[in-house]
Amino acid sequence: MSVPERRILLIVTGGIAAYKCLELIRRGRERGLRFRCVTTRAAERFVTPLALAALSGHPVHRELFSLTEEAEMGHIRLAREADLVVVAPASADFLAKMANGHADDLASTLLLATDRPVLVAPAMNPRMWAHPATRRNVARLRADGIHLVGPEPGDMACGEEGVGRMAEPATILAAIEALLEDGRRPLAGVRALVTSGPTREPLDPVRFLSNRSSGRQGHAIAEALARAGAEVVLVTGPVCLPDPPGVRTVHVETAREMLEACLAALPVEVAVCAAAVADWRPARIAKDKLKKRPGAPPPVLELEENPDILATLAARGTDRPRLVIGFAAETERVVEHARAKLTRKGCDLVLANEVGPASGVLGGPRNRILVVAPDGTVEPWPELDKREVARRVAELVAARLGTAA
Ligand code: CTP
Repeated sequence: MSVPERRILLIVTGGIAAYKCLELIRRGRERGLRFRCVTTRAAERFVTPLALAALSGHPVHRELFSLTEEAEMGHIRLAREADLVVVAPASADFLAKMANGHADDLASTLLLATDRPVLVAPAMNPRMWAHPATRRNVARLRADGIHLVGPEPGDMACGEEGVGRMAEPATILAAIEALLEDGRRPLAGVRALVTSGPTREPLDPVRFLSNRSSGRQGHAIAEALARAGAEVVLVTGPVCLPDPPGVRTVHVETAREMLEACLAALPVEVAVCAAAVADWRPARIAKDKLKKRPGAPPPVLELEENPDILATLAARGTDRPRLVIGFAAETERVVEHARAKLTRKGCDLVLANEVGPASGVLGGPRNRILVVAPDGTVEPWPELDKREVARRVAELVAARLGTAA
């Protein structure tokens, strides 16, 4: 799917992967993207400004304080005129500068001056990518709302193997197009509720029942809906993820707290229940820590059923969301169970996924979804990164609500 001509500000930093930018520009132009390129000094050791200028059809911007360039186009304008800023490759050093808000050359100044979405494609030695300093910088950039594509595993130019290779131009292009599409904001004015993460059901002051959900999928959906323009309330159990940017996040522990927070968020047009709600809770919560008693048998857990949040939302009267989407986490007979859940819970769509230990879905970065509709149809999606799944969910929501352009 091609997009109408959109403007990309491409910042090239130093790294052997810089040569791949030429391919990115060539392929991007075929798909209607227009590029303005900026290089750092280090980038020019790997790719020449002449090659970038020839392929992009525009002179390359290189200097922060350049009389000729400023006269032609001020750097603030350069930062604001683009629809999207892309940093590819993004070196470890450049990520660190971005994370700390440096502005000591044209590239870093533009990133501080822009109000446009920013996509970075990191490329570096696997050890540098794994280093705690880089992890910290990447976490900070994500929290700032910066989008990342890659890096990917594979052989590196330095002869090592591991994660650090820049994403291929086609992958970067797909991420660019996804973000540009998000720019259309098809869900502007739509109120959305998303549940995410596990719940914790206390047994005593120190113990609880829970599950392996990481919240990655639910959080990504909340973020994608917000990026598409929706006003999103995310109700999440305990997770190790930052609150998604642009989303009102409510933190809860138990299923009952989650239900209460969801009901408080109504009315909404769409509810997506991605949380792995604990089905049962201990019938009694001990006031003090349960103690081992020498010779006594281990305690027997009595459980009580938790409220079903999805079914409760789907059964609401006048404030029922127009679209209620559930997940079905299954380890076998996925479609059959998903269809049964759709009927039993009264929702409008079920996104079914196989979550057995071999699938790596629970807690992992990727997901394979089957979209199950009430008429029995099943649409399989390929295995995708959870962020891409989220983008597709936002697309699906817009299509179902009839707000897609
Ligand atoms: N769900 C919910 N409240 C619950 C249990 C589940 O809102 N108490 C929602 C989940 O967020 C998900 C859907 O129901 O959208 C299905 O969850 P899943 O764990 O697959 O199914 P269960 O209802 O728990 O059924 P089972 O454990 O028997 O598979």
